Amino acid sequence: MGFDQYHEPPEELPANTRTFARMCASLTEEAEAIGWYEQRLAVEPDAEARAIMSDAQGEEFKHFAMDLEYLLRRTPRWREIARGVLFQGGDIVEHGEAAEAATGEQDGAASAGPAAGGGAPPGDGSLGIGSLKGATL
Ligand SMILES: [Fe+2]
Repeated sequence: MGFDQYHEPPEELPANTRTFARMCASLTEEAEAIGWYEQRLAVEPDAEARAIMSDAQGEEFKHFAMDLEYLLRRTPRWREIARGVLFQGGDIVEHGEAAEAATGEQDGAASAGPAAGGGAPPGDGSLGIGSLKGATL
């Protein structure tokens, strides 16, 4: 614990970037917890213990999803790529490449991260990708 999520001096980072980093750390922790429960469930023989662990893993799924949605709402490029990859049938890598190409940014191009001020405010129903449309790169 502590300030591991920062790779730059925290006092030099804007507040929204510090929040973004905290949420990325939280997303990582939720994914780790999901993996830990998966391992525990794979080896636990007691049915009641397994039921409790399965319930707890479901909580971690929810936490992960909420963290991810928060981050995607504030990061239009990430949201647009995720939209092209998530919940699609077929080849995951192909969808990823196509989604990245569709953003018009690849291989080191400028990021539209939270510091860019992009994204829709939570709960407004917007898809949060409008700021990328027509952007000159
Ligand atoms: Fe959690």
